[in-house]
Amino acid sequence: MILSIESSCDDSSIAITEIESKKVIFHKKISQDVKHSKYGGVVPELASRLHAIALPNILKECKPYLHEIKAVAVTHEPGLVVTLIEGIMMAKALAISLNVPLIGVNHLKGHIYSLFIEKEELFPQLILLVSGGHTMLIEAISCFEMKIVASTLDDSFGESFDKVAKMLKLGYPGGPIVEQMALDGDEDRFNFPIPLKNSKEIAFSYSGIKNFARVLIEELQNVTHQDICDICASFQKSAVAHLIQKTKKYLKEHKYRDFSIVGGASANNYLRKAFMELCLENSCNLHLAKMEYCSDNAVMIGRVAIEYYKKEKFNSLYELKPSSKSSYFN
Ligand code: KG4
Ligand code: ZN
Repeated sequence: MILSIESSCDDSSIAITEIESKKVIFHKKISQDVKHSKYGGVVPELASRLHAIALPNILKECKPYLHEIKAVAVTHEPGLVVTLIEGIMMAKALAISLNVPLIGVNHLKGHIYSLFIEKEELFPQLILLVSGGHTMLIEAISCFEMKIVASTLDDSFGESFDKVAKMLKLGYPGGPIVEQMALDGDEDRFNFPIPLKNSKEIAFSYSGIKNFARVLIEELQNVTHQDICDICASFQKSAVAHLIQKTKKYLKEHKYRDFSIVGGASANNYLRKAFMELCLENSCNLHLAKMEYCSDNAVMIGRVAIEYYKKEKFNSLYELKPSSKSSYFN
């Protein structure tokens, strides 16, 4: 079995996965959402201290399995350095005491492998990664051959939902709240621009519509409940239309049989519906992770680690360190 740890942002999570069967034996996640909600975003120092309490508490429950652990895996990049370090220190201590190898896992690759939990891998495919920190189109050929073909020039998709929610004082994380409010809103009331609409470049940008929301809220002055619902619906329409427009453009020139959406924001049903239609038009199969594995979790990290374990790709205790940047993708 592999024990995996995730602490790249505000979720403390540990999982245990069987190497041969890929079966998830144990998984527990403690989210800090409520603790950060009043600040309208994650406070790194607070998140780090909460991991220091939550991770050892989860680890206690793993005791019955520790003698069967063959490797310890941990997210080491990209993420908040002060929170990554909590998981990394625990992973190093465990690797030493259990005398097993250490495997550092890239968080983005983890999101991709949320598709393959308790399953075989499926490659090649085009993957849209939409999370709080990233918005990317990735061409994935194999576990060890992945290429970013488009990414955001500024804010990420999930981050823009968080920021709009913050402006409307709706709490954190903003994505699920904005999606919920949008259900009662008129998506055609406000004319949010579609970013990079006239640009040939295949890239994403969310700072423009975020600022459009800011100006709109300032102009409205007395914002009613209906105004909030209408802003959320109109904003979400434009945010998703932008993803669709750029992906469509890319699919015009590159054919794929399989297309997946991963990352915390892939839980958004409005986005899922829009991409179902796009995939139908392009005759490709749409794959999504189970809802419980869309947001950050250690199970996806453990699933990547199985592939590393098979190839004996291990890290030394001295070289594995946290990083806010992703060194893996080109
Ligand atoms: O992957 P994730 O759990 O953490 C990162 O790696 O960033 O993604 C969290 C992000 C947050 O920005 C959150 O607001 C967004 O995903 N999110 C959503 C939805 N659920 C979560 N965004 C839009 N719609 C949702 N339903
Ligand atoms: Zn994530």
